[in-house]
Amino acid sequence: MKITKFRTDELDDLMIFLDSNLEENYEKKVFLNIRQRWPEGFLIIKNKETIVGTCCGAILPNEKLRILILVLHEDYQGKGIGKQLMNLIIKESIIFGIKKVTLEARKDSKAITFYRKLGFSSVDVLPCYYQDGCDGIVMEKHL
Ligand SMILES: CC(C)(COP(=O)(O)OP(=O)(O)OC[C@H]1O[C@@H](n2cnc3c(N)ncnc32)[C@H](O)[C@@H]1OP(=O)(O)O)[C@@H](O)C(=O)NCCC(=O)NCCS
Repeated sequence: MKITKFRTDELDDLMIFLDSNLEENYEKKVFLNIRQRWPEGFLIIKNKETIVGTCCGAILPNEKLRILILVLHEDYQGKGIGKQLMNLIIKESIIFGIKKVTLEARKDSKAITFYRKLGFSSVDVLPCYYQDGCDGIVMEKHL
C-alpha cells in the first residue's frame, strides 16, 4: 500500500473508484479544480496500482482546512488508514497556519463516530444537504 499525491492521469481511475464507493455523483472537473487549488492536499491510497481510497481538502480563509472527501474501499476500512490519511492531510496543511479543520458528514453515516474519535465535534446541521435529501452534519476540530 502506498499513499501518493493525485495525478491528473489517474482521473478516470479515481472516477471509477468514487462511483462505486460514494453515494454522491461528481463531475470530473471538480477533481481537477480541487487538485489545481492545492495539489499537496489531494491524497490517493493504492494497493499495487489500484486506488483503494482518497482524501482531499481545500485551504479556506481564516486558517481553515475543509476536508472535501475521505473515503476508503470497504475492504480497507477499520485498519487505521482513514486516521492516517486525515493526519497526513492536516500535516500538509500546517504550512498555511491552519487552526481549524471542518467537514460535512451524512447524518446517517458511521463516519460521524470515526470523526468524533479523531476529536471532531458536531457544530451545525445542514438540512437536505445531500442529493438524496439526507441532512449534513458540520463537524469541526481545533488544532
Ligand atoms: C469513515 C472512514 C473514512 C474511516 O476510515 P477507517 O480507516 O475505516 O477508520 P480507522 O480504521 O482509521 O479508524 C479510526 C478510529 O475510528 C474508529 N472508527 C472507524 N470507523 C468506525 C465506525 N464505523 N464506528 C465506530 N468507530 C469507528 C476506529 O475504531 C478507530 O478508533 P481507535 O483509533 O480508537 O482504534 C471509512 O470507514 C470510510 O471510507 N467509510 C465510508 C465512506 C465514508 O463514510 N466517508 C466519510 C464521508 S463524510
